[in-house]
Amino acid sequence: MKILITGGAGFIGSHVVRLFVNKYPNYTIHNLDKLTYAGNLANLKDIEKKPNYKFIKGDIVDAAFINALFEKENYNAVIHLAAESHVDRSITNPLEFVMTNVIGTVNLLNAAKTLYQLSTSNFKLFYHVSTDEVYGALGETGIFTEETAYDPHSPYSASKAGSDHFVRAYHDTYGLPALISNCSNNYGPNHFPEKLIPLCINNIKNNKPLPIYGKGENVRDWLFVEDHARAIDVIFHNAKVGSTYNIGGHNEWTNINVIRLLCKIMDKKLNRAEGTNEKLITFVKDRAGHDLRYAIDSSKLQNELGWKPSLQFEEGLEKTVDWYLANEAWLNDVTSGNYAKYYEEQYAKR
Ligand code: NAD
Ligand code: TYD
Repeated sequence: MKILITGGAGFIGSHVVRLFVNKYPNYTIHNLDKLTYAGNLANLKDIEKKPNYKFIKGDIVDAAFINALFEKENYNAVIHLAAESHVDRSITNPLEFVMTNVIGTVNLLNAAKTLYQLSTSNFKLFYHVSTDEVYGALGETGIFTEETAYDPHSPYSASKAGSDHFVRAYHDTYGLPALISNCSNNYGPNHFPEKLIPLCINNIKNNKPLPIYGKGENVRDWLFVEDHARAIDVIFHNAKVGSTYNIGGHNEWTNINVIRLLCKIMDKKLNRAEGTNEKLITFVKDRAGHDLRYAIDSSKLQNELGWKPSLQFEEGLEKTVDWYLANEAWLNDVTSGNYAKYYEEQYAKR
């Protein structure tokens, strides 16, 4: 199998690339990434020299480049994670999200369709990685199932919903073998420190305020990133073409309770008196159109394909804090912008 993984230098993509490269030495894994601010090849230092791995710098919005790549490489499958992923950035610059998340996805679908229709091709699967945010927001009760109607509210979730619709349209119209998974909020190592958990870990470390939007009452359903990568592996290898799976760990937390727990864990890790870090909590202006609650029902995945999350949140959060404290250089490079040099030093001259 020769698999193209897009967005493999990002947070979730790097965990998926690592899992596939290590677990399947007989597969050839190509990681295609534009290296936007969110892409960091240092995430993959440990596997970059493996013989079954190759990095390709490129933009999924560039149709000519994507078509030429598919023609040359004759892939057997695509796992598509490349995206603009931060809701706050989508509020400031929605068009960037349309370009990458919608146009970029359609470019990949077109290239995959052309390849699939060749008599000489052995193209098996277009796996699109999506989010539970396409389902919109829940009130105090309810849960997203695979049948929940799409109702996105932010430019980010609207662009992801658009991409999901195109993937289904290419399956239904052209018979392209495709499937989709929709996952809840991820956390864990290599998470870019603009998202809630890594931002607060970095701010606690540096004694800076912890900005909580509104009253901190919004609820997210958190999943450890390696559990998401394992779910993608299980779905990629076992799911029926044309199907959809929700991924999540039944792990709902209000934002304020996540941050209180984080403060407590980091009081201990940093040898600060109990209650020290909580004093950094600062309530700030709410996000525009802030979805109140997400909760995802992953029983289809658990019952049909036997996946389940490996960690409780408390354990996963502690593991995450340990990773950030042990990887100070990664965090400093990301916050200073130095990480962009890694590509120039290690790859550009090859
Ligand atoms: P991320 O922002 O950390 O990484 C995205 C990656 O895509 C980066 O490496 C970036 O360089 C690359 N990229 C962006 N634009 C590109 C382009 N035009 N061409 C090629 N590469 C490009 O995102 P993430 O959090 O790892 O999310 C990965 C995928 O999973 C996304 O599709 C996202 O919608 C989905 N998802 C994320 C979460 C979450 O909690 N983070 C939850 C569910 C689903
Ligand atoms: P985020 O990590 O941006 O993920 P998403 O918006 O995709 O769920 O935000 C998680 C939650 O934390 C969300 O309810 C918004 C909130 N939040 C804050 O309260 N303060 C912050 O600084 C950030 C980035 C997010």
